[in-house]
Amino acid sequence: MSTPRKLHIKSYGCQMNVYDAQRMVDTLAPEGFVETAQAEDADLVILNTCHIREKASEKVYSELGRLRVAKDEAARNGRAMQIAVAGCVAQAEGDEIIHRAPVVDVVVGPQSYHHLPHLLARARAEGRAIETEFPVEDKFAALPAPKPAAIRARGISSFVTVQEGCDKFCTFCVVPYTRGMEVSRPVARIVEDVQRLADNGVREITLIGQNVNAFHGDGEDGAPWSLGRLLHRLAAIPGIVRLRYSTSHPRDVDDALIEAHRDIPAVMPFVHLPVQSGSDRILEAMNRKHTAADYRRTVERFRKARDGMAFSSDFIVGFPGETEDDFSATLALVDQIGYAGAYSFKYSPRPGTPAADMQEAVTTASDTSRIMDERLARLQALIDRQQAAFNAAAIGKTVEVLFERAARNPGQIVGRTAYLQPAHVMASPDIIGQVLPVAVDSLERYSLIGRLAQAAQPVVSSRVPSAMTTGA
Ligand code: SAH
Ligand code: SF4
Ligand code: F3S
Repeated sequence: MSTPRKLHIKSYGCQMNVYDAQRMVDTLAPEGFVETAQAEDADLVILNTCHIREKASEKVYSELGRLRVAKDEAARNGRAMQIAVAGCVAQAEGDEIIHRAPVVDVVVGPQSYHHLPHLLARARAEGRAIETEFPVEDKFAALPAPKPAAIRARGISSFVTVQEGCDKFCTFCVVPYTRGMEVSRPVARIVEDVQRLADNGVREITLIGQNVNAFHGDGEDGAPWSLGRLLHRLAAIPGIVRLRYSTSHPRDVDDALIEAHRDIPAVMPFVHLPVQSGSDRILEAMNRKHTAADYRRTVERFRKARDGMAFSSDFIVGFPGETEDDFSATLALVDQIGYAGAYSFKYSPRPGTPAADMQEAVTTASDTSRIMDERLARLQALIDRQQAAFNAAAIGKTVEVLFERAARNPGQIVGRTAYLQPAHVMASPDIIGQVLPVAVDSLERYSLIGRLAQAAQPVVSSRVPSAMTTGA
């Protein structure tokens, strides 16, 4: 092995990038790279970027400005620093990035990062290396498995990619262009990954994909398996006590997925199900291919199948042509569903997407930006009220918590409820990795504060009292 070199990696955007960053660390470990928290000390800095909204992608350039100073300083001290741009901006902008920021040595798209060692060597020899193809080989098969010590250091909850890319082409969205077409991993590979994680202390798995419930990977019997079937298989792996999946598209919710929530206690009763808008006219212009009523029905199906189901969502305000009536339909839908939480964003036109061309035709109002701000504030206020009510409903109840780590306050251990609410108790660190009942006494901002409800002993069931629904 070569002498240790320092790697600093900064991720923006979604959970796919968080996962990819870990896999890049695993890919570079055999090259002698160890992680550092300081970009200034690093021999290699990777920015793992997001292109979803203009603000997200512009962040990269301000960061590259700062890195130019760090790279110059390193050079003055006789140290070569390499800078790589990975992720969705790399895919979308390719060599444009190097034109705009010549400090960059390597540009690597999300489907090519298993080639990083080779690209870094090429950049050293040739000054630059760019790879933004969608290669035909299976990236995941080419990536080295994480070492047991790396898994343990990352804690008891882990992401596993099961599906990548998106064929939905919502008119506002860059993901189909940056991540490519939908591809599902074979079940056997996913089982191997989850088994390895479980053997090294992981207790909770979140299956991730841009459209995770479009999963249709080759099953152990050779036939394509749905996400529901995959969840059944993974729940049988010893050590796995909680299963989640994200992000789902309302159109791809099938009976097998709903039944997985009914039949598998380890599958958490909490689903992130983005709807974007409550107006059928806007949903159609977005190419979401479902109506607000379809969405409400889907939520009802989940709720019938499992007590205590709760939902979160994503919303876009100010999509081209959105009227006050359309926006009111969104508020009405939020009111009807009653969310445990949600993200809302102002529409951001993205180059190359169909909605970016709709923009001009419909935004005649000179005060579009003020209207968007105002709608965003109203929507967020409603969502905040629902989230506060949802969290407050836990006070006085006993809820199951999977304990994750020592909290900042000495003596406190923090974990998460079925609904990802942080929960703090005074306890011994021995409880880390266990699911235990917690009597909730109070709420501090978004965290539940409570006590262990009984002597520490593992609880495997993950059912949550039905009183935990929002009641909205
Ligand atoms: N695959 C997921 C979401 C991926 S992007 C889905 O289908 O829901 C995450 C969120 O970013 C989206 O749900 C959407 O709310 C938001 N988003 C995507 N493109 C956007 C844009 N151009 N402007 C504003 N928000 C956007
Ligand atoms: Fe983007 Fe739509 Fe695909 Fe989600 S489903 S990633 S919003 S195109
Ligand atoms: Fe961003 Fe790419 Fe994820 S655009 S949201 S990092 S898929």
